[in-house]
Amino acid sequence: MVDSELVHALKELALMGATHGFIDVSSGDLATRLSTSQQTASRRLLEMERFGYVRREKGVRRQLLRLTDEGVGVLLDEYGAYKRIFDQKQELRIKGKVTSGLGEGRYYLDQKGYVEQFVAKLGFKPYPGTLNLEVRGAELNKLRILKATPAIAIDSFQDRERTFGAVDAWRATVKAVECAAILPKRTHHTRTLEVIAKDYLRERLALKDGDEVEVFVLLEAP
Ligand code: CDP
Repeated sequence: MVDSELVHALKELALMGATHGFIDVSSGDLATRLSTSQQTASRRLLEMERFGYVRREKGVRRQLLRLTDEGVGVLLDEYGAYKRIFDQKQELRIKGKVTSGLGEGRYYLDQKGYVEQFVAKLGFKPYPGTLNLEVRGAELNKLRILKATPAIAIDSFQDRERTFGAVDAWRATVKAVECAAILPKRTHHTRTLEVIAKDYLRERLALKDGDEVEVFVLLEAP
């Protein structure tokens, strides 16, 4: 592991252009960028040179400096770590109990305005209904996290009689079956996570009321 102070110094030099060629930099310049004393910046420069991360040449009055391949390598390792952190598709697992509602899901999933958006934005035509999962206890925190997570936006729309509200959707799987977790945008303190899928999940996964299922919600990289 390379000392994080050195990584920081290498990063600042790289931002000043020291990965592409020699730059003219004084320990005072570096001190300002690192918010340290000039003495500390000087010491960092010496350390970086000693480890072979930078090469220094004497300029006319000031010194010229550039990162070596090893120095660039240190930054690439950091970059790799951040890539893993941010590029990875993360998932949120939410457990809930299968429950029956009042048949409202079917009514909403019969609306052309929703169906067309689901097809366009999720890539499947949902079975007309929603599988309701009652979420309890500590799992409820995850619903809150989900609500705060960027979603596939299903827009509100109007037909002759009424307005249908916007819905947030996230790609998900239940027991490896492709589906989507959805939450009406307006609800705030809900305890129900609704799942839509191409399949009739009760049959496909042999589910009945009271069964506990775990939804793997895919959180897309920002
Ligand atoms: O009656 P409820 O509001 O719970 O259900 P609905 O949304 O009208 O959906 C009709 C039935 O299909 C319910 O039993 C849902 O649990 C079920 N369903 C399912 O098994 N798989 C889906 N992809 C959607 C709904």
